Amino acid sequence: MDTLEAIKKRHSVREYEDKPINADTVQKLQDVIDVVNKESGLHIQLVLDEPEAFNEEHLSYGRIHGAKNYIALIGPDDQELEEKCGFYGEKVLLEAVKLGLSTCWVGSTYKKMASVVDIKEGERFLLIIAIGYGQNEGEPHNSKTLDATLIAEEEMPDWFVKGGEAALLAPTAMNQQKFQFILHESNKVEAKTYRAYFCKTDLGIAKYHFEIGAGKENFEWV
Ligand SMILES: Cc1cc2nc3c(=O)[nH]c(=O)nc-3n(C[C@H](O)[C@H](O)[C@H](O)COP(=O)(O)O)c2cc1C
Repeated sequence: MDTLEAIKKRHSVREYEDKPINADTVQKLQDVIDVVNKESGLHIQLVLDEPEAFNEEHLSYGRIHGAKNYIALIGPDDQELEEKCGFYGEKVLLEAVKLGLSTCWVGSTYKKMASVVDIKEGERFLLIIAIGYGQNEGEPHNSKTLDATLIAEEEMPDWFVKGGEAALLAPTAMNQQKFQFILHESNKVEAKTYRAYFCKTDLGIAKYHFEIGAGKENFEWV
């Protein structure tokens, strides 16, 4: 499975099997996290066999059932943290999908278990991604249109449209999809978001999808 196929296959899954992730998969995922941490300067951590984060029985919406494993998004507490967690977290998430795991970004409907992760001075624990063997595959989300997402004065090149299509498949908090991509000077792309809950993390996720759909060699971010 390539990354674009993983983008098309991915949906949030909120019901998990009570089954540990097999050792080979854990090792491969850890290797991916190590590479991404080096590339990004983040301190992403894999947390296994920790059911407390999802032990939230009072929740009527967004309860994650049966999950015991997650990816904790942690990094230097600066201006870039939220967008970077989105971009690099989604990179790790899509590798998890390729390894046969189900996933769900979780920003609020969980208990933040700071005691089970390593948070260095100056770092912040932002949010998590639940992972495991899903009881189902999730469902496609309702989506905004390409017209509402892509802006260009000239005719839109094919790569720009493909980037937009991949971005619209991205997970966003409460499915808000508050992002737009604007084309300048035929190969420069500006990614924009509007003030909203977790909007910078959403933007990072959408930008990663856009890069995969459009092909990084076809444009540069401005
Ligand atoms: C930054 C972020 C935070 C999220 N937080 C939660 C959450 O707290 N609880 C939850 O059940 N889903 C959460 N989600 C999942 C979204 O609800 C989901 O991605 C969206 O409805 C689109 O559906 P899909 O992921 O199946 O495409 C979050 C997603 C993102 C990107």
